[in-house]
Amino acid sequence: MGSYRLAVMDGDGIGPEVIASVRTLLAAINEREPALDLIPVDLPIGLAAYEHEGTTLPASTLAALETCDGWILGPLTTHLYQGAAMPNVSAVLRKRFELFANIRPARSFPGIAALYSDVDVVVVRENTEGFYADRNMLAGSGEFQPAPDTVLSVRVVTQRACERLARAGFELARRRRSHVTLVHKANVLRLGCGLFLDTCRAVATDYPDVQVDDFHVDAFAMHLVMRPTDFDVIVTTNLFGDVLSDLSAGLIGGLGLAPGLNAGHERAMAQAVHGSAPDIAGRGGANPIASILSLAQLLDWLGTRHTDLAATNLGARLWTAVETVLATDAVKTPDLGGKATTTEMTEAIVEALQAT
Ligand code: NAI
Repeated sequence: MGSYRLAVMDGDGIGPEVIASVRTLLAAINEREPALDLIPVDLPIGLAAYEHEGTTLPASTLAALETCDGWILGPLTTHLYQGAAMPNVSAVLRKRFELFANIRPARSFPGIAALYSDVDVVVVRENTEGFYADRNMLAGSGEFQPAPDTVLSVRVVTQRACERLARAGFELARRRRSHVTLVHKANVLRLGCGLFLDTCRAVATDYPDVQVDDFHVDAFAMHLVMRPTDFDVIVTTNLFGDVLSDLSAGLIGGLGLAPGLNAGHERAMAQAVHGSAPDIAGRGGANPIASILSLAQLLDWLGTRHTDLAATNLGARLWTAVETVLATDAVKTPDLGGKATTTEMTEAIVEALQAT
């Protein structure tokens, strides 16, 4: 039997609400799925940890993470984080543990009125460098202010990061429709995006069975909105991937439906695309699907890493359960036009999972 210790970290805003749904799913799986033992390990992070322990990322949490097989992270209200005692948990974990590929699928759901009904793309976003100044330097930040009215933000692009990202994208494409689209701005950012593009194209030669094309990011944003079904796996740098994955979520019904996985060679962390949604926090109506499907992605990753078919199958069944619930139209959270609470949506998914 596959037995996995899974770190569970609430986060801020709607984090405790949607991560409670993940805990409910884990409990239901443990009760009803004899082939898997998923042991939740609750670890403090975020604003609650800051209040009690004086830091958003306690050393005890970092140490405990090393003992876990997979991690689940809720969203963080990062715009409130300031100073050394409030590190951006997500950024630190992605960089420190080399979770270099942020894999963000956007797949249409039956029963969801969205721009399209047949989208199935995955953004594979570089996760450790790029324009994200907080992870760009050995020490300090990649943003400088040499004069009161001038700021320099340094983007870092390395061949190593591009190469491992591209491999993750091509491997994923082989499990899907064997098509990779490289998205860049090499016509202007000639050195940085040029290195990204050249490196990805070199990796492509190892995957002759995978179709490759590439676009400038501005034009690609239009293509993705107008003809999303022409694309499969989208490999791109950090900031472009962040924007394009929210755009992709918009094509299928919104951020409440957009899961994500931060994957490295050794570790992976489930983390929905969305933020802490302060505008709806505390009302009990946040959509838990993005977090539940992030758990599904983590199960799939564990299944591949440990050659554990039970974990892989359970990940796929969670998608089916979510599709089943959404197709009936009976249970929808407010972001999807319904009135269901987070708890009601979670219970419906637990029930549907049992029936898969
Ligand atoms: P956001 O993703 O939190 O919210 C954008 C919109 O989507 C809001 O209207 C929100 O109500 C809605 N939304 C998001 N998730 C939802 C869900 N599960 N169910 C229903 N509706 C949902 O982005 P925003 O407002 O730009 O950022 C809020 C905070 O989150 C900021 O502090 C930001 O820095 C942080 N953030 C954190 C992220 C993370 O921890 N991974 C990612 C993005 C933003």
